[in-house]
Amino acid sequence: MKGWLIVNSFVKWDKFSEIYELLLNAAKKCSVLLEMKTSTDIFSSVCGGFEEYDLPDFAIFWDKDILLARRLENKGLRLFNPSESIELCDDKGQTAIVLSENGIRTPVTFLSPKAYPQFGCTDFAFLRKAEKSLGYPMVIKENRGSFGKQVYLAASPEEAEALISSFKEHPFIMQEYIKSSAGRDVRINVVGDRVVASMYRYNDNDFRSNITNGGSMKKYEATKEQEEIAVRACRALGLDFGGVDVLFGDDGPIICEVNSNPHFKTTMECTGVNMAEHIIGYIIDRCRS
Ligand SMILES: Nc1ncnc2c1ncn2[C@@H]1O[C@H](COP(=O)(O)OP(=O)(O)OP(=O)(O)O)[C@@H](O)[C@H]1O
Ligand SMILES: [Mg+2]
Repeated sequence: MKGWLIVNSFVKWDKFSEIYELLLNAAKKCSVLLEMKTSTDIFSSVCGGFEEYDLPDFAIFWDKDILLARRLENKGLRLFNPSESIELCDDKGQTAIVLSENGIRTPVTFLSPKAYPQFGCTDFAFLRKAEKSLGYPMVIKENRGSFGKQVYLAASPEEAEALISSFKEHPFIMQEYIKSSAGRDVRINVVGDRVVASMYRYNDNDFRSNITNGGSMKKYEATKEQEEIAVRACRALGLDFGGVDVLFGDDGPIICEVNSNPHFKTTMECTGVNMAEHIIGYIIDRCRS
């Protein structure tokens, strides 16, 4: 069986290459010929056509280059994860829509009205409506962000307005602050319909529990309810595998966000579970069935 591991051409962080290495090694162990290709290696032109490649049986798409993913799918290449799921997860607004439409509990979330570069948000009438329901502190997140870097807690209307103004035309969400989960959550890694690893993340000095942001981690046995909601979230988003952040609500688990390309190395260090092996096993099963 032959596959490509498609990665971004420009990202040079060890954090990413470590994941590529784990996936390549896991494939080798199962005699799957997995070859790494950057987005430049398979650079595509729409009008001039696609350079003719000998397409493999599948590709693991470890990037967020949706247009490239879509071109490859249209050519008949089977992607894990599919482009649509990667796109939904890469935008917290779209994720919130899909989860709520599937009856999966998330914090109450408002989507920002569309803003244009020449104007930005010219008034805050929408914020007045959101704050009536959410109050303060209010969680504000840029729709695209990682490692907790674009996630904020606004303590007052003035802070919220300053933050929103700094985003200019970039979309964001305004979200209920789940106080019972302050500085803690559970990262649950799912492959297919199964939870393969869970870890508890906590930070005593910040409401965000991300490890990259100074959080710590502990081995954790997820509850049945937490596992179920994580698997349902992945299924609703059409993911083959994903990393789900689950908050501790007062009366049960709440989905915080879902990652289509989870950085499972930290979970592996914490739990000993190598998600790459599960991903490769799952792909072999799917390609054979
Ligand atoms: N509504 C909320 N209420 C309480 N805490 C929250 C809320 N939203 C986010 N958090 C905290 O902030 C952290 C970062 O949020 P989120 O996962 O949405 O951002 P991210 O930057 O996309 O993270 P990742 O690196 O996992 O992609 C969460 O792990 C959680 O600890
Ligand atoms: Mg997160």
